[in-house]
Amino acid sequence: MEKIIINGDTTLKGEVAISSAKNSVLPIIAACILCAEECVIEGAPMLEDVFVICSVLQDLGCIVEINNVNNTISINSKNIINKEPNIELVRKMRASFLIMGPMLARFGSFKLSMPGGCNIGNRPIDLHLKGLKALGAKVDTEHGFVLVEGNKLTGCKINLDFPSVGATENIMMAAVFAEGTTIIQNAAEEPEIIDLANFLSSMGAKIFGAGTGSITIHGVTTLHKSVYKPIFDRIEAGTYMACAGITKSKFKLIGVNEEHLRPIISKLTECGMIIESNGEEMIVDGRECYKPVDIKTLPYPGFPTDMQAQMMSLLSMSHGTSVITETVFENRFMQVPELTRMGANIKIDGRVAIIDGVKKLTGCEVKATDLRAGAALVIAGLAATGITTINDVYHIDRGYMNIEKKLKALGADIKRIKI
Ligand code: UD1
Repeated sequence: MEKIIINGDTTLKGEVAISSAKNSVLPIIAACILCAEECVIEGAPMLEDVFVICSVLQDLGCIVEINNVNNTISINSKNIINKEPNIELVRKMRASFLIMGPMLARFGSFKLSMPGGCNIGNRPIDLHLKGLKALGAKVDTEHGFVLVEGNKLTGCKINLDFPSVGATENIMMAAVFAEGTTIIQNAAEEPEIIDLANFLSSMGAKIFGAGTGSITIHGVTTLHKSVYKPIFDRIEAGTYMACAGITKSKFKLIGVNEEHLRPIISKLTECGMIIESNGEEMIVDGRECYKPVDIKTLPYPGFPTDMQAQMMSLLSMSHGTSVITETVFENRFMQVPELTRMGANIKIDGRVAIIDGVKKLTGCEVKATDLRAGAALVIAGLAATGITTINDVYHIDRGYMNIEKKLKALGADIKRIKI
């Protein structure tokens, strides 16, 4: 068990390098199951969620080598022997479900424990299963397991009821070997979907339209090895931008792409942040970042639900009232009681949070309840007067590589202790 301790009310400066996107790397690792040759992922973030999905692949029989000196992961899925991965391992992380599409595509059958609920909502998998059924798979759910069978998948048109990121990825991977053409309509448009499509294409898949609402996959018979570097983590970048806003600081982000950050930049600019982009570098100036804003989370290119909690921390010290509406997940305001303990003035009514900016937050002992709620507490702690102690930091480690080292390098008074 570890805690993060922040002595707040500091100004940050310097530069921070942004890691590769967790939400790209997880499906890309799952996609390695499709190929019987060794694939190499360069610049992979060394995160808990990444280690969990690597363990799931190892449990299946893949040879996985993680090099945490040069952040490379090599995966050889030639000798997969197990088609029923360990329940405890799978239940550690919902994204384990991303192995379903590739396992079905390559081996024609697969059995997986149903995911449990999670802190931020119920998170069903009906859209994933609907897509696999449309491709011709037989799907049975019983005794807490999902059994998918389909030796011969056939391309078809699939219309998603909601542009689910995971369902789009699973169906895209399942369709890679399907006979004929598959079209996913109302597909998720997130940059991570494009990244997965690019990785699959680098292995020989024929995918068009990723990043739009209609993705076309022409079935192929085999995929070959690839070496691939995933895109940067736009949520990690957005989190550091919120740090600049709340601490009224100016610093540089390295390794980003303004295009993927547009929905976040647009709101932070409304708050008063000045952002200057130069290729892969971006200077964020939060010195006048005081204005309240209203935010509604939506699928990309709308404002990301994964940045909602961090924006709430920033807005809790703005000069006025902001309204955040969470439309993607039903229970994603877990940070509110903890921010309230720090002095924030936030009221919740269903999926709406009303945030009245306060002049100061004060440090106290708080608990990370999920990944982004944990990041929100780090942001609040940086601006709060006195000491903030964050418990259950393993949630934060699921998605932020070296968070205290990166913030320390920016000048924050932050440390991690073992208890
Ligand atoms: C992915 C991201 C997560 C992000 C989310 C939304 C990864 C590993 N995780 O999660 O960080 O918060 O996108 O941007 O990429 N839904 C259904 N049925 C389904 C699937 C989803 O009803 O079969 C619902 C979910 O309950 C949720 C909404 O659709 O309310 C969005 O979920 P989805 O886009 O699937 O999120 P994930 O892929 O799980």
